[in-house]
This record gives sequence, C-alpha cells and structure tokens, in this order.
Amino acid sequence: MPKPRAKSPRRIAILTGGGDCPGLNAVIRAVVKTAENDFGWEVYGVRDGFEGFLVAGDRGISRLDRADIAGILPLGGTILGASNRCNLFAVERKGRVTDESHRVPAAMRRLGLSALILVGGEGTHKAAAQLADLRVPVVGVPKTIDNDLGGTEVTFGFDTAVGVATEAVDRLHSTAASHHRVMCVEVMGRHAGWIALHSGIAGGADVILLPEIPYDPDRIVKRIASRVRHGRRFSIVVVAEGAKRGGGAPVFRKGSGNDPIHDRLGGVAAVVSQEIEERTGISVRATVLGHVQRGGSPSPADRVLATRFGVGAVHAVAEGRFGRMVALRGGEITTVPIASAVATLKTVDPAGSVVAAARALGISFAAADGGDDPHFASRRRHGAP
Ligand code: F6P
Repeated sequence: MPKPRAKSPRRIAILTGGGDCPGLNAVIRAVVKTAENDFGWEVYGVRDGFEGFLVAGDRGISRLDRADIAGILPLGGTILGASNRCNLFAVERKGRVTDESHRVPAAMRRLGLSALILVGGEGTHKAAAQLADLRVPVVGVPKTIDNDLGGTEVTFGFDTAVGVATEAVDRLHSTAASHHRVMCVEVMGRHAGWIALHSGIAGGADVILLPEIPYDPDRIVKRIASRVRHGRRFSIVVVAEGAKRGGGAPVFRKGSGNDPIHDRLGGVAAVVSQEIEERTGISVRATVLGHVQRGGSPSPADRVLATRFGVGAVHAVAEGRFGRMVALRGGEITTVPIASAVATLKTVDPAGSVVAAARALGISFAAADGGDDPHFASRRRHGAP
C-alpha cells in the first residue's frame, strides 16, 4: 500500500456493511466515477464490511480503479464482499469481546484516507453514528431491501425485492387456482412489512400479515371461508417473516449457535399454513422466498436510486457534510443526520394510506386488535367475495 505523498490526490474509502442488497455495486461504481470525474480523488474499498479493518497490515483495504468497477452496474451482491454483520465495537474472538473501533481512524491515518463512505442498513448506520462521535469523517448511504431505515423515503434494494416477491405471488396464483389451494408465501421484513404490503397489493393477495399488525388466525380463516362461499376456491396469503400472532412473538429458526448477533427469523408461513389447514380443511402450501429476494440483478429503479445515492455521498464528502446519511426526500437527494436516521425504524403505518388502499380492495390484515377490514362488512353485504 503506497504512503500518501504531499501532493497526491485526496483519498476516500467505501465499505458495504451488513447483509448484501441489489444495488450495492451501483453505489460503488457511482462513488468511484464521481470521485474521479468531479474531483480527481482516489477511492479505496474496504473488504467484507467492517471486517476489512481487522485484517493485519491493512490488507483488507485496497485501491478501486476503473477496471474494478467495469461491468458491475447490473451485478447483484457487492464486489467488496459483505460481512456477517461484524460489530467493530464488540468483536468476539475466542470467547472474548473487545472494542476494535480504534482501528478505523488508525487505518485511515496510515493510508491517508480523509473520509469513509459507509453503505448499509440500521446496524451499519448505528456504527456510523458511533464512529462520527469518535470524530471519524463518515457519510452514510442507506441500503436495505426491508426499506425500514428512517430519514429516507425509500432505500435501494426494496424495489428489486418487491419485484421478486410479486413475481412469486403471480406464479403461486396459477398453481393455487389449478389445485384449489391456499398458498402462503413468506417474504422478508424483520421489523417492517413493506415488502409484504407492496408485493401483496401488486400480486393481488387476499390476506397480508405484517409485523406492525399482529394477526388473529380466526380472521385469516374468515377471509378464506368467505372467498370459498363466493365460489373462489383458492386464496393467497403473503406473510412478512416478522409477522406475529396477537399477544404472541415472531417465529425464529431453531438456533444454530453460529449467529449470536443476529437472531434468524423464519417459519411463520409454515405456522400460518398449519393453522389454516387445520381450521378449514383446505390444502395449504407454504413457500419461503428467503434470500432470493436479496440476490441477483437490481431493478432499473434501484440502479438509478443507488447511483444517485453514490453521487450524493461523494458530494457530501466534498462539502464536509460528515455524520450525515444521503437520503431521498421529496424525490431529491439530500442528507440527514445519521443519528436521526437510526433513531426510529420506518415501519408500516396501520392507519396509513397504503394499508387503507389494500383494505379498500378487500385485502384482510387479519388484525388481532379488531381494527381490520372496515370496508369488508359492507362489501360482504353487497355480495363481494
Ligand atoms: O435486514 C434485511 C434482511 O433481509 C431481513 O429481512 C432478514 O431478516 C435478514 O436480512 C436476514 O439476513 P441474514 O440471513 O443475511 O443474516
């Protein structure tokens, strides 16, 4: 790694933290091109998220040039590698937990890096806020298919995930109709049900279950039974992985012991399917989309958003707007304090207009609090299925 010379161009670094997401490579490409084209700067890439700072001899950090970013725009994943949600402030090794955050400013000093662009979700931005408190010059870029990061109207990756989930719902429709079955599809959405809500509406689901609206199995059954009474012999249920029964808890996979930081959700579709099958006698099949939603090529909308975020992040560095995250607000790219972006997760508003639009179509959220389906009773009076 060459030492910075007095007159060498400014150097900045980029890191992709947390889980991968379609559009990460578009951000990296935009950062490298903008830094070079607009400012003549050099960009360095940190490998495997924050783990790149833990590699001896700064071997986890290397120069990114034009050849590195050639052809990466349509590629899923991240050319920098993603970490298994490494938390630099509590690194666990051989049973000991240590704070390794000091490695970031130390490496930046050694390599002459004057700013760090952190692309990530909630976890990465929490670390970014802590690094900013340590006076590390950071700029955040919001990424998550779950779309639950505050401060921005939308995150890149979400559009692609909704596209994948909607295609799955479309495909499940035809097989559900042929076999007169209920299809229950589990999509990602840990704390926020945006993917379930949007793919459920786009795919014409009959029931959508969200983390924000605890469900009552009786209400799911009522909706399906009503369809049967009206001659609809199949139904589609879209369930977010973080959905929970009223008074209950989300469904987690049996612990493997390998993932102590990040409890793994999964299995709610199987639970809901069993409940429906037992109560209705109708054949039910569960489908779990899982990481299919995170992999593969980003949608055109995500490529554009990720590119705009990448350009915005470099300009934020140029203007010294550190401790801030680029964000989409009113359709324009701006920056917000990182601390405010992570202060509250952006969850689905059960009383909001998107949920209301779904309810207007007769989609049930099977709300355990009884607040569900305001239009449904009158629709049924008029004979709607
Ligand atoms: O945070 C995004 C997300 O896709 C969640 O919806 C999901 O629970 C989680 O990542 C799974 O990530 P991993 O399996 O990579 O830990």
